[in-house]
Amino acid sequence: MKIAVLPGDGIGPEIVAEAVKVLEVLGLGLEMESAPVGGAAYEAAGHPLPEATLKLARESDAILFGAVGDWKYDTLDRPLRPEQAILGLRKALGLFANFRPAICYEQLVGASSLKPELVAGLDILIIRELTGDIYFGQPRGRRTAEDGPFPGSEEAFDTMRYSRPEIERIARVAFEAARKRNKKVTSVDKANVLETFQFWKDVVTEVHKDYPDVQLEHMYVDNAAMQLVKAPKAFDVIVTGNMFGDILSDEASMLTGSIGMLPSASLNDRKQGLYEPSHGSAPDIAGKGVANPLATILSAAMMLRFSLGQAEAADRIEAAVKAVLAQGLRTPDIWSEGTTKVGTQQMGDAVVNALR
Ligand code: NAI
Ligand code: MG
Repeated sequence: MKIAVLPGDGIGPEIVAEAVKVLEVLGLGLEMESAPVGGAAYEAAGHPLPEATLKLARESDAILFGAVGDWKYDTLDRPLRPEQAILGLRKALGLFANFRPAICYEQLVGASSLKPELVAGLDILIIRELTGDIYFGQPRGRRTAEDGPFPGSEEAFDTMRYSRPEIERIARVAFEAARKRNKKVTSVDKANVLETFQFWKDVVTEVHKDYPDVQLEHMYVDNAAMQLVKAPKAFDVIVTGNMFGDILSDEASMLTGSIGMLPSASLNDRKQGLYEPSHGSAPDIAGKGVANPLATILSAAMMLRFSLGQAEAADRIEAAVKAVLAQGLRTPDIWSEGTTKVGTQQMGDAVVNALR
């Protein structure tokens, strides 16, 4: 089993190092090979996703990804920016199904920004379509406006689009996932305003006919944003498009205490997957040794379960994470009165010790 390890930049290398330590102590004989990506690759090779990195990713059973992006690259042409590396990997490998579980661990109920009774026991799954929507739609660009309120002025535009097969396959992923959980899917759209999402709603409704044992509800994205903070436990599986899923999953992360706790898996139809924390490269705390590595460690657990057929090892990692939280260890993002503040490496070491 071969794993491509792509740390990236910002806090990426710090958090990935901890996840690699955790994988190594399991003694599964995993073959891990690292390659630069994002800002690190731009510095080394002049491109955020060098051919050699993409080749390694293609040849691996799974990819463990850290994070990319730093404000210092914001002035580069868009194709050279670090974020193009993650978008490029998703597109090149066809990683259309993004799983973002939002679970509030018992020990972190107090760290959530919501009242304890709203988040205690929270376990929802956001499934975000990852290779379509306005993030990839063409045409896009800048031009001189021909109409609108200011003809002759400079304007920018993007294209929101989804094809039927793209919606069908992500809807199936959501219904299948719900079957293994509490059998409820909330499809989030903006059908009242956008044709793309009226189509989305229609296609999801058609696919649902094959899953009569699963309950389907439709919800507008603005209401979904509200319900997520009002009554998050009313959800089971949320399925939505690329942009709404991006935003709602960040919102959901705060229910769990910190975005530093939220893992993710992005799968293609061959079960090859890219596993990464849901957060970005956090340039504000990079290099300080304080980033929370648990989202990355939990992403490694998802990798073992989904792509490598090692469910038992995944369970062990998740139990070890719960154990260190029960010991009262907290990185600053999840720290509260009465708990012990630790850094990135200490947190990783504690998980390793719990596994031993
Ligand atoms: P971000 O997720 O990097 O950071 C948001 C806030 O959360 C910051 O205050 C940060 O310190 C904190 N945070 C994030 N991860 C944390 C962790 N593990 N432990 C403790 N605190 C953590 O999002 P932001 O600031 O919007 O973006 C920063 C850069 O990351 C940008 O260049 C952005 O484009 C990029 N980005 C990359 C992603 C990826 O690699 N998949 C995803 C999202 C953003
Ligand atoms: Mg995001």
